[in-house]
Amino acid sequence: MTIKLNKAYNNLPLLPPKQSWVETISILKQESKSAVALAELKGLTNTLPNPNILINAVILKEAQASSGIENVITTQDKLYQALYAKSAKPDGATKEVLRYREALLLGTRLIKERGFLNTNGIIAIQNELEENNAGLRKLPGTALINDLTNEVIYTPPDNFDTINHLMKNLEDYLNEDKDDVSPLIKLAIQHYQFESIHPFYDGNGRTGRIINILYLIYKGLLNEPVLYLSSYIIQNKGDYYRLLQEVRTKNNWEEWILYMLKGTEQTAQNTIEQINKINQLFSETQNLVQEKLPRIYSKDLIEQLFIHPYTKIEYLVNNLGIERKAASRYLNSLDEIGILKSQQKGKEVIYINTKLYNLLKKG
Ligand SMILES: Nc1ncnc2c1ncn2[C@@H]1O[C@H](COP(=O)(O)OP(=O)(O)OP(=O)(O)O)[C@@H](O)[C@H]1O
Ligand SMILES: [Mg+2]
Repeated sequence: MTIKLNKAYNNLPLLPPKQSWVETISILKQESKSAVALAELKGLTNTLPNPNILINAVILKEAQASSGIENVITTQDKLYQALYAKSAKPDGATKEVLRYREALLLGTRLIKERGFLNTNGIIAIQNELEENNAGLRKLPGTALINDLTNEVIYTPPDNFDTINHLMKNLEDYLNEDKDDVSPLIKLAIQHYQFESIHPFYDGNGRTGRIINILYLIYKGLLNEPVLYLSSYIIQNKGDYYRLLQEVRTKNNWEEWILYMLKGTEQTAQNTIEQINKINQLFSETQNLVQEKLPRIYSKDLIEQLFIHPYTKIEYLVNNLGIERKAASRYLNSLDEIGILKSQQKGKEVIYINTKLYNLLKKG
């Protein structure tokens, strides 16, 4: 098969690729499976007692997984401490994960408010992630290198106008639906293209993985960013790098698209299991508190313990509109019956919903 390369664009062809390359029988078969899993996930998120419970937890896991690709090592506990304890002094790795979380939240807001995803939005997301405003690459010299052999495997376009033009083409592809290719297939195509344009000096992988989730929300396949696709990508990183490269060198769209479709299916299934477990733990906790502490029981109270796996007096005061004294009594009673575990952190006491924390840590 010959691939028509456009020299003016540094050999990176504009989108879309030929429909016959990206709609093979195996791709279409896998696409239906992935679509079913994702639809089930979307439906299930609507049954949660409060979607924020899942959103907070999954975003943090996605942030941790995605940042982990650069071998950032940080624990869930450090993340929660950084989010909830005033006295916490997060290390660099923890800060990086929290920046990813902020960038994903920013992107979700942009999609919901504006109803589209353009280059400026993508630049804003990368700024938030990297905490600088370098914007699109203007200087040459960026090359993708094989860590093991130090060989250059790919040199992305390095002319500012070319990068701009390719980004505009990508933007049109994301926002227009001239063809009837399924958004799940387009997800894989746009991710390859974004990574190949490699429009930033750094953070292209992470920004690209954020765009993946936003694209699903934009296309109405998810309501909230509750899919942690990046954990699949990390676990299958060897294939991820190999297949990105094979689209370029062998026009192997099929395997690349299948890889992403399977990732979507698997991650959706994992998230569904996780939601079921959270739902079950929620009911168990509800029953236990109703039985042992009928005087303080309310569904709102239990929800607070799930929205914030690490909670404190001030949250109950602010979110339930109760007095400090009452809030403190509630939390201590929950500590006594083993639902929460208190920890002194600097001047404040933090209460951990240990069962939920353990569940989130595993899944
Ligand atoms: N052969 C390739 N073709 C296109 N893109 C590639 C190729 N190899 C790697 N990439 C992309 O480049 C990304 C790394 O780029 P960059 O260092 O700018 O991103 P990052 O967010 O800092 O790192 P990481 O993705 O490792 O967390 C990879 O995640 C991958 O998406
Ligand atoms: Mg990097």
